[in-house]
Amino acid sequence: MIGAGVAGLVAAVVLARRGIDTLVLEAASRARVESRPRAGLLGPAAVDALERNGLADGLRAEGAPHHNCEFRHRRRAFVVEYARHAGGHHHVVYPQQKLVADLVAAYLAAGGVIEFGVTDVMLDALTSDHPAVSFVTADGQRQTVESRFIAGCDGHHGVSRGSIPEGALRHIRQRDSAWAWLAVLAAVTPSTDKIIYGVSPRGFAGHMLRDHRTSRFYLQVEATADAADWPAERIWEELHARLAVDADWQLAEGPLLEPPNVITMDSVFYEPMRFGRLILAGDAARRVPPAAAKGAGLAIVDGETLALAVAAALHDADERPLNAYSEVCLGRAWLAQEASTKLLQLVNVELADPFARRLQDVRLDRLRTSPVAAAEFADHYLSPR
Ligand code: APR
Repeated sequence: MIGAGVAGLVAAVVLARRGIDTLVLEAASRARVESRPRAGLLGPAAVDALERNGLADGLRAEGAPHHNCEFRHRRRAFVVEYARHAGGHHHVVYPQQKLVADLVAAYLAAGGVIEFGVTDVMLDALTSDHPAVSFVTADGQRQTVESRFIAGCDGHHGVSRGSIPEGALRHIRQRDSAWAWLAVLAAVTPSTDKIIYGVSPRGFAGHMLRDHRTSRFYLQVEATADAADWPAERIWEELHARLAVDADWQLAEGPLLEPPNVITMDSVFYEPMRFGRLILAGDAARRVPPAAAKGAGLAIVDGETLALAVAAALHDADERPLNAYSEVCLGRAWLAQEASTKLLQLVNVELADPFARRLQDVRLDRLRTSPVAAAEFADHYLSPR
Protein backbone atom coordinates (compact mmCIF):
# COMPACT_ATOMS: atom_id res chain seq x y z
CA MET A 1 0.00 0.00 0.00
CA ILE A 2 1.38 3.39 -0.95
CA GLY A 3 -0.15 5.85 1.55
CA ALA A 4 -1.41 5.46 5.12
CA GLY A 5 -4.65 7.38 4.67
CA VAL A 6 -7.97 5.73 5.33
CA ALA A 7 -7.99 3.88 1.97
CA GLY A 8 -4.53 2.36 2.40
CA LEU A 9 -4.97 1.49 6.07
CA VAL A 10 -8.36 -0.17 5.68
CA ALA A 11 -6.97 -2.24 2.80
CA ALA A 12 -3.88 -3.08 4.86
CA VAL A 13 -5.80 -4.22 7.96
CA VAL A 14 -8.20 -6.38 5.95
CA LEU A 15 -5.30 -8.03 4.08
CA ALA A 16 -3.06 -8.47 7.13
CA ARG A 17 -5.87 -10.12 9.08
CA ARG A 18 -6.23 -12.61 6.25
CA GLY A 19 -2.62 -13.61 6.67
CA ILE A 20 -1.36 -11.80 3.57
CA ASP A 21 2.08 -10.16 3.81
CA THR A 22 1.66 -6.42 3.52
CA LEU A 23 3.80 -3.31 3.65
CA VAL A 24 2.49 0.24 3.95
CA LEU A 25 4.72 3.10 2.79
CA GLU A 26 3.80 6.56 4.08
CA ALA A 27 5.55 9.82 3.29
CA ALA A 28 4.51 11.59 6.50
CA SER A 29 5.44 10.71 10.09
CA ARG A 30 3.11 8.71 12.31
CA ALA A 31 2.55 11.76 14.52
CA ARG A 32 1.56 13.78 11.47
CA VAL A 33 -0.97 11.30 10.02
CA GLU A 34 -2.53 10.85 13.45
CA SER A 35 -2.97 14.59 14.04
CA ARG A 36 -3.56 16.10 10.58
CA PRO A 37 -7.09 17.56 10.51
CA ARG A 38 -9.09 16.23 7.58
CA ALA A 39 -12.72 15.30 7.08
CA GLY A 40 -15.11 14.09 9.76
CA LEU A 41 -18.49 13.04 8.40
CA LEU A 42 -18.93 9.35 7.58
CA GLY A 43 -21.97 7.92 5.82
CA PRO A 44 -23.60 4.52 6.31
CA ALA A 45 -21.52 2.59 3.75
CA ALA A 46 -18.26 3.64 5.40
CA VAL A 47 -19.51 3.02 8.94
CA ASP A 48 -20.82 -0.42 7.91
CA ALA A 49 -17.46 -1.30 6.31
CA LEU A 50 -15.63 -0.30 9.51
CA GLU A 51 -18.13 -2.25 11.67
CA ARG A 52 -17.81 -5.36 9.47
CA ASN A 53 -14.07 -5.33 10.00
CA GLY A 54 -14.14 -4.62 13.73
CA LEU A 55 -12.66 -1.15 13.15
CA ALA A 56 -15.45 0.94 14.60
CA ASP A 57 -14.72 0.87 18.35
CA GLY A 58 -13.32 4.42 18.50
CA LEU A 59 -16.04 5.73 16.26
CA ARG A 60 -18.73 4.09 18.39
CA ALA A 61 -17.20 5.42 21.61
CA GLU A 62 -16.45 8.97 20.52
CA GLY A 63 -18.28 9.57 17.25
CA ALA A 64 -21.47 11.60 17.22
CA PRO A 65 -24.43 10.19 15.26
CA HIS A 66 -26.16 12.74 13.01
CA HIS A 67 -29.72 12.27 11.79
CA ASN A 68 -30.66 15.83 10.85
CA CYS A 69 -29.19 18.88 9.20
CA GLU A 70 -30.32 22.47 9.10
CA PHE A 71 -30.74 24.91 6.25
CA ARG A 72 -30.90 28.67 6.61
CA HIS A 73 -32.58 30.58 3.86
CA ARG A 74 -34.07 34.07 3.91
CA ARG A 75 -33.05 34.33 7.60
CA ARG A 76 -35.26 31.36 8.42
CA ALA A 77 -33.93 28.03 9.73
CA PHE A 78 -35.47 24.68 8.88
CA VAL A 79 -34.34 21.18 9.77
CA VAL A 80 -34.32 18.25 7.36
CA GLU A 81 -34.75 15.01 9.29
CA TYR A 82 -33.01 13.06 6.59
CA ALA A 83 -32.48 9.81 8.55
CA ARG A 84 -36.24 9.59 9.09
CA HIS A 85 -36.66 9.68 5.31
CA ALA A 86 -34.02 7.00 4.80
CA GLY A 87 -35.11 4.15 7.06
CA GLY A 88 -32.93 5.37 9.93
CA HIS A 89 -29.64 5.41 8.01
CA HIS A 90 -27.52 8.27 9.30
CA HIS A 91 -24.04 9.80 9.53
CA VAL A 92 -21.41 9.65 12.25
CA VAL A 93 -19.05 12.55 12.87
CA TYR A 94 -15.62 11.27 13.89
CA PRO A 95 -12.47 13.24 13.08
CA GLN A 96 -10.56 11.43 10.35
CA GLN A 97 -7.20 11.71 12.13
CA LYS A 98 -8.66 9.73 15.06
CA LEU A 99 -9.85 7.06 12.65
CA VAL A 100 -6.38 6.98 11.08
CA ALA A 101 -4.86 6.46 14.55
CA ASP A 102 -7.34 3.60 15.23
CA LEU A 103 -6.48 2.00 11.88
CA VAL A 104 -2.71 2.29 12.41
CA ALA A 105 -3.10 0.57 15.81
CA ALA A 106 -5.31 -2.20 14.36
CA TYR A 107 -2.88 -2.80 11.49
CA LEU A 108 0.16 -3.01 13.76
CA ALA A 109 -1.78 -5.33 16.09
CA ALA A 110 -2.45 -7.60 13.09
CA GLY A 111 1.33 -7.84 12.54
CA GLY A 112 1.43 -5.33 9.68
CA VAL A 113 4.51 -3.27 8.81
CA ILE A 114 4.47 0.48 8.09
CA GLU A 115 7.41 2.57 7.00
CA PHE A 116 6.68 6.19 7.91
CA GLY A 117 8.67 9.08 6.50
CA VAL A 118 9.62 7.40 3.22
CA THR A 119 10.76 9.49 0.26
CA ASP A 120 11.35 9.01 -3.44
CA VAL A 121 8.83 6.22 -3.93
CA MET A 122 9.07 4.71 -7.43
CA LEU A 123 6.89 1.99 -8.95
CA ASP A 124 8.12 -0.40 -11.60
CA ALA A 125 7.03 -3.41 -13.69
CA LEU A 126 3.34 -2.70 -13.11
CA THR A 127 2.15 -5.00 -15.88
CA SER A 128 4.33 -7.93 -14.79
CA ASP A 129 3.40 -10.54 -12.16
CA HIS A 130 5.93 -9.02 -9.79
CA PRO A 131 5.57 -5.27 -9.67
CA ALA A 132 8.21 -3.53 -7.55
CA VAL A 133 8.38 -0.50 -5.30
CA SER A 134 11.59 1.27 -4.50
CA PHE A 135 11.83 3.91 -1.77
CA VAL A 136 14.17 5.63 0.63
CA THR A 137 13.50 4.93 4.32
CA ALA A 138 13.37 7.66 6.97
CA ASP A 139 17.00 6.87 7.85
CA GLY A 140 18.16 7.24 4.26
CA GLN A 141 18.37 3.62 3.02
CA ARG A 142 17.17 2.87 -0.53
CA GLN A 143 15.12 -0.34 -0.57
CA THR A 144 13.30 -2.26 -3.27
CA VAL A 145 10.41 -4.60 -2.57
CA GLU A 146 8.81 -6.97 -5.05
CA SER A 147 5.17 -7.77 -4.56
CA ARG A 148 2.15 -9.40 -6.16
CA PHE A 149 0.05 -6.24 -6.12
CA ILE A 150 0.55 -2.57 -5.37
CA ALA A 151 -2.32 -0.52 -3.97
CA GLY A 152 -2.05 3.15 -4.91
CA CYS A 153 -3.67 4.85 -1.90
CA ASP A 154 -1.54 7.98 -1.81
CA GLY A 155 -4.21 10.60 -2.34
CA HIS A 156 -4.69 13.01 -5.16
CA HIS A 157 -1.09 14.21 -5.32
CA GLY A 158 0.67 10.89 -4.77
CA VAL A 159 3.05 9.06 -7.08
CA SER A 160 0.98 5.98 -7.88
CA ARG A 161 -1.33 7.38 -10.51
CA GLY A 162 1.58 9.31 -12.01
CA SER A 163 3.40 6.00 -12.58
CA ILE A 164 0.73 4.89 -15.04
CA PRO A 165 1.68 5.63 -18.67
CA GLU A 166 0.03 8.62 -20.28
CA GLY A 167 -3.16 7.65 -22.08
CA ALA A 168 -3.79 4.42 -20.14
CA LEU A 169 -6.48 6.03 -17.97
CA ARG A 170 -9.35 8.27 -19.05
CA HIS A 171 -9.42 11.60 -17.21
CA ILE A 172 -13.04 12.64 -16.81
CA ARG A 173 -13.15 16.19 -15.59
CA GLN A 174 -15.92 18.54 -14.58
CA ARG A 175 -15.96 21.90 -16.28
CA ASP A 176 -14.55 24.67 -14.10
CA SER A 177 -16.91 26.08 -11.51
CA ALA A 178 -17.03 29.80 -10.77
CA TRP A 179 -17.00 29.04 -7.04
CA ALA A 180 -14.71 27.58 -4.43
CA TRP A 181 -15.12 27.10 -0.68
CA LEU A 182 -12.84 28.73 1.85
CA ALA A 183 -12.26 26.05 4.49
CA VAL A 184 -11.78 27.24 8.05
CA LEU A 185 -11.01 25.15 11.13
CA ALA A 186 -11.50 26.87 14.49
CA ALA A 187 -10.91 25.91 18.12
CA VAL A 188 -14.42 26.63 19.26
CA THR A 189 -17.31 24.54 20.51
CA PRO A 190 -19.79 24.23 17.63
CA SER A 191 -22.66 26.69 17.93
CA THR A 192 -24.99 23.96 16.68
CA ASP A 193 -25.70 20.27 17.22
CA LYS A 194 -26.29 19.66 13.52
CA ILE A 195 -24.62 20.73 10.28
CA ILE A 196 -25.90 24.09 9.05
CA TYR A 197 -26.09 25.00 5.36
CA GLY A 198 -26.59 28.74 5.21
CA VAL A 199 -27.82 30.17 1.91
CA SER A 200 -27.69 33.96 1.97
CA PRO A 201 -27.63 36.80 -0.56
CA ARG A 202 -23.88 37.06 0.21
CA GLY A 203 -23.28 33.42 -0.73
CA PHE A 204 -23.15 30.09 1.04
CA ALA A 205 -21.76 29.52 4.54
CA GLY A 206 -21.50 26.12 6.19
CA HIS A 207 -21.10 25.29 9.85
CA MET A 208 -19.83 21.73 10.35
CA LEU A 209 -18.84 19.93 13.56
CA ARG A 210 -15.70 18.01 14.40
CA ASP A 211 -15.72 17.46 18.16
CA HIS A 212 -16.85 19.42 21.21
CA ARG A 213 -13.87 21.79 20.91
CA THR A 214 -13.51 22.08 17.13
CA SER A 215 -15.69 23.51 14.37
CA ARG A 216 -15.29 23.50 10.61
CA PHE A 217 -16.69 26.36 8.54
CA TYR A 218 -16.97 26.90 4.81
CA LEU A 219 -17.55 30.12 2.91
CA GLN A 220 -18.41 30.25 -0.77
CA VAL A 221 -15.77 32.40 -2.50
CA GLU A 222 -14.82 33.03 -6.10
CA ALA A 223 -12.79 30.20 -7.65
CA THR A 224 -9.94 32.69 -8.10
CA ALA A 225 -10.03 33.82 -4.44
CA ASP A 226 -6.79 34.04 -2.48
CA ALA A 227 -6.88 32.78 1.12
CA ALA A 228 -4.46 35.57 2.03
CA ASP A 229 -7.32 38.04 1.47
CA TRP A 230 -9.29 36.33 4.23
CA PRO A 231 -7.94 37.32 7.64
CA ALA A 232 -9.83 35.89 10.64
CA GLU A 233 -11.76 39.14 11.17
CA ARG A 234 -13.21 39.05 7.66
CA ILE A 235 -14.05 35.34 7.99
CA TRP A 236 -16.03 35.83 11.20
CA GLU A 237 -17.80 38.90 9.86
CA GLU A 238 -18.91 36.95 6.80
CA LEU A 239 -19.93 33.87 8.80
CA HIS A 240 -22.05 36.02 11.14
CA ALA A 241 -23.72 37.71 8.17
CA ARG A 242 -24.35 34.59 6.11
CA LEU A 243 -25.56 32.39 8.97
CA ALA A 244 -27.78 35.10 10.48
CA VAL A 245 -31.28 33.96 11.33
CA ASP A 246 -34.35 35.65 12.81
CA ALA A 247 -34.15 33.70 16.04
CA ASP A 248 -32.22 33.67 19.26
CA TRP A 249 -28.92 32.24 18.01
CA GLN A 250 -25.31 33.30 18.43
CA LEU A 251 -22.25 32.14 16.53
CA ALA A 252 -19.31 31.60 18.91
CA GLU A 253 -15.88 32.60 17.60
CA GLY A 254 -12.54 30.96 18.35
CA PRO A 255 -8.93 31.00 17.17
CA LEU A 256 -8.24 29.49 13.75
CA LEU A 257 -6.38 26.18 14.03
CA GLU A 258 -4.73 26.39 10.62
CA PRO A 259 -4.53 28.97 7.84
CA PRO A 260 -7.78 28.92 5.84
CA ASN A 261 -7.51 27.35 2.41
CA VAL A 262 -9.43 27.64 -0.83
CA ILE A 263 -10.93 24.34 -2.01
CA THR A 264 -11.94 24.44 -5.63
CA MET A 265 -15.05 22.58 -6.70
CA ASP A 266 -13.52 20.83 -9.68
CA SER A 267 -13.99 17.09 -9.77
CA VAL A 268 -12.01 14.56 -11.74
CA PHE A 269 -12.22 10.78 -12.14
CA TYR A 270 -9.48 8.53 -13.49
CA GLU A 271 -10.85 5.40 -15.12
CA PRO A 272 -10.38 2.48 -14.81
CA MET A 273 -8.95 2.35 -11.27
CA ARG A 274 -6.37 -0.23 -12.23
CA PHE A 275 -3.34 -0.57 -14.45
CA GLY A 276 -1.87 -4.08 -14.51
CA ARG A 277 -0.97 -4.95 -10.92
CA LEU A 278 -1.40 -1.39 -9.61
CA ILE A 279 -4.83 -0.79 -8.14
CA LEU A 280 -5.93 2.73 -7.20
CA ALA A 281 -8.15 3.51 -4.22
CA GLY A 282 -9.58 6.65 -2.61
CA ASP A 283 -8.39 10.09 -3.65
CA ALA A 284 -5.63 8.57 -5.81
CA ALA A 285 -8.42 7.65 -8.23
CA ARG A 286 -10.54 10.79 -8.08
CA ARG A 287 -11.24 14.13 -6.57
CA VAL A 288 -14.77 14.85 -5.40
CA PRO A 289 -15.84 18.21 -3.95
CA PRO A 290 -16.13 18.64 -0.16
CA ALA A 291 -19.88 19.19 -0.45
CA ALA A 292 -21.72 16.24 1.14
CA ALA A 293 -18.35 15.01 2.47
CA LYS A 294 -18.10 11.87 0.40
CA GLY A 295 -14.32 11.56 -0.05
CA ALA A 296 -13.34 9.79 3.15
CA GLY A 297 -16.25 7.35 3.02
CA LEU A 298 -15.48 6.39 -0.56
CA ALA A 299 -11.83 5.86 0.35
CA ILE A 300 -12.81 3.50 3.18
CA VAL A 301 -15.10 1.35 1.05
CA ASP A 302 -12.56 1.32 -1.81
CA GLY A 303 -9.95 0.06 0.66
CA GLU A 304 -12.15 -2.82 1.82
CA THR A 305 -13.21 -3.76 -1.74
CA LEU A 306 -9.60 -3.70 -2.91
CA ALA A 307 -8.41 -5.93 -0.07
CA LEU A 308 -11.17 -8.50 -0.57
CA ALA A 309 -10.43 -8.61 -4.31
CA VAL A 310 -6.69 -9.07 -3.74
CA ALA A 311 -7.34 -11.72 -1.07
CA ALA A 312 -9.56 -13.67 -3.49
CA ALA A 313 -6.84 -13.49 -6.15
CA LEU A 314 -4.10 -14.64 -3.78
CA HIS A 315 -5.96 -17.21 -1.70
CA ASP A 316 -8.37 -18.68 -4.22
CA ALA A 317 -6.74 -17.77 -7.55
CA ASP A 318 -10.06 -16.03 -8.25
CA GLU A 319 -9.45 -12.81 -10.18
CA ARG A 320 -13.12 -12.05 -10.82
CA PRO A 321 -13.49 -9.61 -7.88
CA LEU A 322 -10.32 -7.87 -9.03
CA ASN A 323 -11.64 -7.60 -12.56
CA ALA A 324 -14.90 -6.13 -11.23
CA TYR A 325 -13.14 -3.80 -8.75
CA SER A 326 -13.00 -0.67 -10.85
CA GLU A 327 -16.60 -0.84 -11.98
CA VAL A 328 -17.89 -1.49 -8.45
CA CYS A 329 -15.92 1.42 -6.97
CA LEU A 330 -16.72 3.78 -9.83
CA GLY A 331 -20.44 3.06 -9.51
CA ARG A 332 -20.35 4.16 -5.87
CA ALA A 333 -18.09 7.11 -6.53
CA TRP A 334 -20.24 8.53 -9.35
CA LEU A 335 -23.31 8.19 -7.13
CA ALA A 336 -21.47 10.18 -4.48
CA GLN A 337 -20.39 12.75 -7.07
CA GLU A 338 -24.01 13.20 -8.13
CA ALA A 339 -24.94 13.83 -4.48
CA SER A 340 -22.15 16.42 -4.15
CA THR A 341 -23.21 18.11 -7.37
CA LYS A 342 -26.84 18.28 -6.21
CA LEU A 343 -25.85 19.71 -2.83
CA LEU A 344 -23.67 22.35 -4.48
CA GLN A 345 -26.59 23.36 -6.71
CA LEU A 346 -28.72 23.66 -3.62
CA VAL A 347 -26.38 25.79 -1.51
CA ASN A 348 -23.94 27.70 -3.71
CA VAL A 349 -25.49 31.03 -4.68
CA GLU A 350 -25.20 32.29 -8.26
CA LEU A 351 -24.58 35.80 -7.02
CA ALA A 352 -24.92 37.56 -10.38
CA ASP A 353 -27.76 35.47 -11.79
CA PRO A 354 -31.24 36.38 -10.47
CA PHE A 355 -32.84 33.68 -12.61
CA ALA A 356 -30.75 30.94 -11.02
CA ARG A 357 -31.41 32.42 -7.58
CA ARG A 358 -35.18 32.26 -8.06
CA LEU A 359 -34.86 28.58 -8.94
CA GLN A 360 -32.66 28.04 -5.90
CA ASP A 361 -35.39 29.62 -3.74
CA VAL A 362 -37.88 27.13 -5.18
CA ARG A 363 -35.55 24.17 -4.52
CA LEU A 364 -35.05 25.23 -0.90
CA ASP A 365 -38.76 25.88 -0.38
CA ARG A 366 -39.56 22.43 -1.75
CA LEU A 367 -36.97 20.86 0.52
CA ARG A 368 -38.61 22.62 3.49
CA THR A 369 -42.20 21.72 2.63
CA SER A 370 -42.27 18.56 0.51
CA PRO A 371 -41.63 15.12 2.05
CA VAL A 372 -40.83 13.84 -1.44
CA ALA A 373 -38.11 16.47 -1.87
CA ALA A 374 -36.77 15.67 1.62
CA ALA A 375 -36.68 11.94 0.82
CA GLU A 376 -34.84 12.65 -2.43
CA PHE A 377 -32.34 14.80 -0.52
CA ALA A 378 -31.87 12.06 2.09
CA ASP A 379 -31.22 9.44 -0.57
CA HIS A 380 -28.43 11.52 -2.10
CA TYR A 381 -27.03 12.79 1.17
CA LEU A 382 -26.56 9.27 2.54
CA SER A 383 -25.39 7.62 -0.68
CA PRO A 384 -23.71 5.32 -1.35
CA ARG A 385 -25.40 2.95 1.07
N1 APR B 1 4.57 8.12 -0.85
C1 APR B 1 3.98 7.64 0.28
N2 APR B 1 2.87 8.19 0.82
C2 APR B 1 2.34 9.23 0.20
C3 APR B 1 2.87 9.78 -0.99
C4 APR B 1 4.05 9.16 -1.52
N3 APR B 1 4.61 9.61 -2.61
N4 APR B 1 2.10 10.82 -1.38
C5 APR B 1 1.14 10.92 -0.48
N5 APR B 1 1.25 9.98 0.48
C6 APR B 1 0.39 9.74 1.65
C7 APR B 1 -0.13 11.00 2.30
O1 APR B 1 0.81 11.53 3.23
C8 APR B 1 -1.38 10.47 2.99
O2 APR B 1 -1.13 10.05 4.31
O3 APR B 1 -0.77 9.07 1.21
C9 APR B 1 -1.81 9.29 2.15
C10 APR B 1 -3.09 9.53 1.39
O4 APR B 1 -4.13 9.67 2.33
P1 APR B 1 -5.41 10.57 2.04
O5 APR B 1 -5.03 11.82 1.35
O6 APR B 1 -6.18 10.64 3.30
O7 APR B 1 -6.21 9.71 0.93
P2 APR B 1 -7.32 8.60 1.06
O8 APR B 1 -6.94 7.53 2.01
O9 APR B 1 -7.66 8.27 -0.35
O10 APR B 1 -8.55 9.34 1.73
C11 APR B 1 -9.09 10.42 1.01
O11 APR B 1 -9.98 11.59 2.95
O12 APR B 1 -10.19 13.60 4.14
C12 APR B 1 -10.61 12.86 3.09
O13 APR B 1 -11.26 14.54 1.65
C13 APR B 1 -10.29 13.57 1.88
O14 APR B 1 -11.49 12.52 0.21
C14 APR B 1 -10.31 12.50 0.91
C15 APR B 1 -10.16 11.21 1.66
